[in-house]
Amino acid sequence: MNARGRLISSPRLAMSQDDAFRRINDSLAFDWRLAPYDVAQSLAHAKMLAACGIISAGDRDALHRALEQVAQEVSDGSFVFADGDEDVHMAIERRVSELAGEAGGRLHTARSRNDQVATDLALFTRDAALGAEAAAIDLAQTLLDLARAHADWPMPGYTHLQRAQPVYLGHHLLAYAWMLLRDARRFRAVLTATAALPLGAGALAGVNFATDRELLASELGFAEVSENSIDAVSNRDFVLDHLAAAATCATHLSRLGAELVLWSSEEFGFCELSDAWASGSSIMPQKKNPDAAELLRAKAPRISARLAAMHGVLHGLPLTYNKDMQEDKEHLFDAVDTLALMLAAAQGMLQTISFRRERLAAAASDELLAATDIADYLVGKGLAFRSAHHVVGGLVRLASASGRTLSQLAAAELREASPLIDPREFQALLGDGAWLESKVSRGGTGSAALREQLAHAQAAIERARAGA
Ligand code: ARG
Repeated sequence: MNARGRLISSPRLAMSQDDAFRRINDSLAFDWRLAPYDVAQSLAHAKMLAACGIISAGDRDALHRALEQVAQEVSDGSFVFADGDEDVHMAIERRVSELAGEAGGRLHTARSRNDQVATDLALFTRDAALGAEAAAIDLAQTLLDLARAHADWPMPGYTHLQRAQPVYLGHHLLAYAWMLLRDARRFRAVLTATAALPLGAGALAGVNFATDRELLASELGFAEVSENSIDAVSNRDFVLDHLAAAATCATHLSRLGAELVLWSSEEFGFCELSDAWASGSSIMPQKKNPDAAELLRAKAPRISARLAAMHGVLHGLPLTYNKDMQEDKEHLFDAVDTLALMLAAAQGMLQTISFRRERLAAAASDELLAATDIADYLVGKGLAFRSAHHVVGGLVRLASASGRTLSQLAAAELREASPLIDPREFQALLGDGAWLESKVSRGGTGSAALREQLAHAQAAIERARAGA
């Protein structure tokens, strides 16, 4: 101890650590959430050491009793930290030694904090990926249910935020379901990235004991054992992979959030969020603000920034373990927590949203949305698409310059634009619904294609749930 009551952390060091050094170096404040994984790993490690004759069965039992006590203290919050507890690993080992005496000192045999922290983090990341995968699939299911319920509700589809072609609301909602199913696949791939057990690599070169790493792997649910001890303690690819998957998923949710903000405005009036998912204004009594949707929009860059920061931590880092790598945790934890919150908010909003059929239909009945269909009609009469595009562009200009809609153009005007136009057929083309149902291609918005898509999406969700 020094004058300020700080422990000297190692017999190698003659002076106690500076306070500011402790503040920059200690990770306990944030890595404590790895405690359950650290305990699980230590239980497996003690079991393996005894199975290999490296420690006695008596020591193993003492370690197991102590570790179970620690697990209890971790879960009920009664674990008491000591001044020298630099990180989760040292805190737990210190407590185990208090409880198990001499045997406690044997727990760290054939193990380094370098392979230990890599193992804890791989276990954490695996759980985080499973959680994110399940939440993404659940959200895809909610979107699919909404799509089914609104399969025949016309709305304008947009490009450049300009009305482009009409689509069914169900078709639009399914676009998000597919995004989330791709996200789920990316999270599933993180399970492969965390499949190799780092434990047993020691500090970097392997250990001086004939350990059984396969036993450790099977105890801890790893499919395989890392092949190279240097790679094992240096590898944080699985953190990058999870952050990348999370960043993409968050970006998807930000686009959903952005649309909910637009759609719930009076200008669009396409949907209404539940009161449980809106806030009022402190000054304007009429306001109902879509704050959670706005925050879906704004939280996404925070996750991609965590990914960029993690690339920064690892880039140019010489092998093997460097303390830089301690920075992986806060980036990962914040991204995991932020994404979980975003997925929960998206789920809550969509489970309680209502859409406004008449507002969607009024916007979708804008005749200009039929422009492409009229061009295709002329193509059907033998005109080249580029010329047809030109003819219809002229009709749109004529109509809007004279304050009319397309159906208000006179037969003579139509024929003058192109002798191929039959005015009766032209009017029929502008009749209700025809432009939607003409989209017969696979993956398009027409009802038959949409029904097929709904079935495919449901099958994809079942496959995703089965982990396939
Ligand atoms: N708290 C450290 C981390 O998070 C644990 C590993 C420490 N290893 C070391 N050689 N100092 O990275």
